[in-house]
Amino acid sequence: MIQPFRPLLALALAAAVSGSASAEETIKIGEYASLTGKEAAFGQSSHKGTVLAVEELNQRGGVLGCKIELVTDDNQSKQGESATIVKKLIFREKVIGILGEVASMRSLEAAPLCQAYKTPMISPSSTNPKVTEIGSYIFRVCFIDPFQGTVMAKFAKDTLKIHRVAVLTSVSSAYSVGLAKYFKQRFAADGGEIAIEQKFTEGDKDFNAQLTAIKAAGVEGIFVPGYYTEAALICRQARELDMKIPLFGGDGWEAPELIKIGGEAVEGCYYSTHYSPQVDTPAVKGFVERFKARFGGETPDAMAALGYDSAGVMVDAIRRAGTTDGPAVRDALAATSGFEGVTGTTTMDKDRNASKAAVVIMVKDGQFKFVQSVAP
Ligand code: PHE
Repeated sequence: MIQPFRPLLALALAAAVSGSASAEETIKIGEYASLTGKEAAFGQSSHKGTVLAVEELNQRGGVLGCKIELVTDDNQSKQGESATIVKKLIFREKVIGILGEVASMRSLEAAPLCQAYKTPMISPSSTNPKVTEIGSYIFRVCFIDPFQGTVMAKFAKDTLKIHRVAVLTSVSSAYSVGLAKYFKQRFAADGGEIAIEQKFTEGDKDFNAQLTAIKAAGVEGIFVPGYYTEAALICRQARELDMKIPLFGGDGWEAPELIKIGGEAVEGCYYSTHYSPQVDTPAVKGFVERFKARFGGETPDAMAALGYDSAGVMVDAIRRAGTTDGPAVRDALAATSGFEGVTGTTTMDKDRNASKAAVVIMVKDGQFKFVQSVAP
């Protein structure tokens, strides 16, 4: 049962959607997202998936006899904002759980607060291992970068037949640093050669010095574990230097902006991610149809799919907990097993991570094309 005496309890009185005088109880779930700023494509997409999930769950009666209310706040893709927002969500909005973020650096910023105030947090898509290491209240519904790094190292060696590679890492992004490390470990362990490593910082726009050094090293491919804005510019500037070798990255490349900014330069490039709308399963097909109908024909990407699943997993745990009490919901989340979502089956391992398949995507004719799926 819902415990009405708990301070963090989020039972708000909201007017019924019908507009009738009767009020109904809602359970508040908070979301912090990069709805504007440099990674707006991530936040927007993840948010839309989350909204769709909450709407569908409410149509099916909500949870514990209450409607679910999603309280979302924008961190503008800025460092420092997520901690402030999450505090506000917990203390002012009295949310019972938190969804977010996409980018690992921002999940790492908010997670210690969720942990300290015993408010379960699910990151839909932060893949850096450190995120869930923050503590027992922090979960994710996606794979982690040791797996993603392995997938791309093997793909480069076995499929692209690349032996000598360059790595170009964003040193100000926990995600980039981690993914670079796991990629290098695996690529070298399989006998590949990391001929040169170069660095940049989030927000950089000129990569000429790094690319010139990489060109001189004579590599067969460049691994860029970064986010789409920089990745697209790096591809463009590599082509301007007449480098025709493939560039490839991880899930941070996933956004329509990659192709918008990168144009011709990203043709023949590859990245790994969590899901492809082109995968022909009933769950994915149904999700794609409902998402398109809800959001003006837009095709959902990986962040949308993971945002959708993060809300589903949170609500499933509240239902199983039978209460909105933080520790009880945490325990139910930790016990999540065989939850069927659009990104596959979520089972929380002992480290509160989900192990799931990755997909490799190629940019071809200005479109994202599914190449292969790699089992965990
Ligand atoms: N995995 C990235 C991170 O941890 C974020 C991301 C997820 C980007 C999914 C795109 C798609 O920072």
